[in-house]
Amino acid sequence: MDYLKIEGGHKLSGSVKISGAKNAALPLIVSTLLSKREVELRNVPDVVDISTLLKLIEMLGGRYTREMSSSKVVIDTKEVNETKAIYDIVRKMRASVLTLGPLLSRFGRCEVSLPGGCAIGARPVDLHIKAMQTLGAEIEIKGGYIVANAKDGLKGGVVVFDKITVTGTENVIMAASLAKGTTKIVNAAKEPEVIQLCEVLQKGGLNIKGVGSDEIIIEGSGGELFDIDSIDIIPDRIEAGTYLCAGAITNSEIEIQDAEPNHLKSVLNKLEGMGFGITINGKNISISPAKIVKPVEIITAEYPGFPTDMQAQFMALATQADGSSIIEERLFENRFMHVSELHRLGASIHLRGNTATINGKTPLRNAELMATDLRASSALVLAALVAKGETSIHRIYHLDRGYENLEVKLGALGAKIERLKE
Ligand code: EPZ
Repeated sequence: MDYLKIEGGHKLSGSVKISGAKNAALPLIVSTLLSKREVELRNVPDVVDISTLLKLIEMLGGRYTREMSSSKVVIDTKEVNETKAIYDIVRKMRASVLTLGPLLSRFGRCEVSLPGGCAIGARPVDLHIKAMQTLGAEIEIKGGYIVANAKDGLKGGVVVFDKITVTGTENVIMAASLAKGTTKIVNAAKEPEVIQLCEVLQKGGLNIKGVGSDEIIIEGSGGELFDIDSIDIIPDRIEAGTYLCAGAITNSEIEIQDAEPNHLKSVLNKLEGMGFGITINGKNISISPAKIVKPVEIITAEYPGFPTDMQAQFMALATQADGSSIIEERLFENRFMHVSELHRLGASIHLRGNTATINGKTPLRNAELMATDLRASSALVLAALVAKGETSIHRIYHLDRGYENLEVKLGALGAKIERLKE
């Protein structure tokens, strides 16, 4: 297994190119199941979750070609003849549950493994299942699988989500797109990744209203596939936020390129509130040092609120603020796995339920660390950039799920970072 060795204390400089959004690419790869033709996806990030999902598409009978150098993937699902998403794939990448809607609506049946929990929480998919039942599916849980049937196809209905769920909304949009009749989704997620999925289907011929709002209305095609031909994946707002935090925590001046500033408003607002300078120039964002790094107060929320996927990174940053910061995690019940590892670097963080108090400014010192989940891992990397001495971070397969070439990109900015073999 690989691990990262980082020597802290080095300033960063220069610019870094942001890759395509993992959480946009995943539903869009699955949406090719709804296309009558082969689809070219551009700006696809080279991360493990994408490879895992492409493997699943192939296992279902789909075909794809991938040009790593140009971040292009061409997918043809004409020959898909399998409708079982197996546990071995789904357990590695829970977003595979996104195949439930498209497979069910295109083939009238499917078996999708329950994903099981993960480090940040139980991550149930009960809302996905309930929504499919609302659209007329018969669902049985058997041997750890969601066994779904809709022999006469899905029919439109009113899906009211008790909680805002990103992939739940995406699953229903894709299921409803081939259903007979009208579907209304109430309390829909409004993340940019959900919006891009809607826009791609709309361009392919789907009649959909309320895109970007919490109420989406879809006129199902009754089974007619869509004319989706090419997709340019939007930039990864969480990768962008992570690199901005790398500039912030090392009090450096860096620029991130090919980002989408409009998707980062809540993150940029918090960085400015901490005293960092933010300059937007088209798709490029520059961050400059704060004279005094002020403490921050964060409550994670669904988009456009502060993203839970940036919570760990800001916790690392808050250790370097002058004063006490408060971070409340409202979406997941166990998304503080990075706290105990930050403690090993000397951070002063106190947890009370789902609220963390971070006292700063705390000088951090090197340690051997263990990554636990994707975004927690990136928080450990950020902290290691300022910890005195050499820090090692193990189990970085978590990092590789969602960050493309992280050590290469950070190294190019001047970080002293190496990927080594255990
Ligand atoms: C998406 O996960 C993202 N993943 C996550 O990013 C992100 O953290 C999350 O949305 C919140 O923004 C992808 O888009 C692939 P949810 P998702 O359904 O859709 C509860 C990363 O780091 N819930 O919006 O799985 C759930 O437990 C990943 O890239 C139910 O109770 O999250 C949570 O408390 C991590 N029942 C809340 O809703 C359900 O059926 C929000 O979850 C579904 C969700």
